[in-house]
Amino acid sequence: MKTIHIIGNWKSHKTSLETRQWFEDIAKVRDLSSAVQDKKVILCPPSHLLSLSSALIQEYQLPFVLGAQDVSPYDIGAHTGEIAGKQLKEFVQYVLIGHSERRRMGETDDIVAQKSQRAREVGLIPVVCIQGKDTPVPDGVTIVAYEPVFAIGTGNADTPEDAEEVLKFFKGKGIATCIYGGSVNPENVASFTSQPSIDGVLPGTDSLDPSKFAAVITQAHA
Ligand code: PGA
Repeated sequence: MKTIHIIGNWKSHKTSLETRQWFEDIAKVRDLSSAVQDKKVILCPPSHLLSLSSALIQEYQLPFVLGAQDVSPYDIGAHTGEIAGKQLKEFVQYVLIGHSERRRMGETDDIVAQKSQRAREVGLIPVVCIQGKDTPVPDGVTIVAYEPVFAIGTGNADTPEDAEEVLKFFKGKGIATCIYGGSVNPENVASFTSQPSIDGVLPGTDSLDPSKFAAVITQAHA
């Protein structure tokens, strides 16, 4: 049986006050723990909220782990503005790498490979975002997220059949965990997670609202 992964990507949203509210609200959702059973819920807040999020997960005893949205291609050192894998490791187990929004800011396949290498060196699990079958996946990467650009933040998700076709290709190349992202919501999530090659989803917009995020978790099934 597959473990369904739900990876919430907050992107550049939320202040600390809003983060406290989000956790307070999601902690009130009834039966959340039973909905999470056999699933892996990974929340990716922006870096400045990781410490607070980690404390709130503890405080409310939530069945979530944390991921970062990016990692420096450099080690600890004189790299102003960068956050190294070792620093993230205090709080997170996973890191998104090569999101299309970052690729649009100039992140190349080489940088994605460097970042994946750094992440793996410190024991973080890279989740490499890909746009299609021709996006290279760096060596040793075990999780990919197929995120077609037309589907991101548009309300216009790809079809489950298309996503299955692309992710089946990566499964065939030995990638253990294959995720779909792009306008995932509580209504369409099961159509993706029930596909044989799709192991989970990566909601952005619908991770921002605690009740929608909880509904995505609840509705996701194989
Ligand atoms: P969306 O974002 O759910 O708002 O489409 C997905 C993503 O970019 O990770």
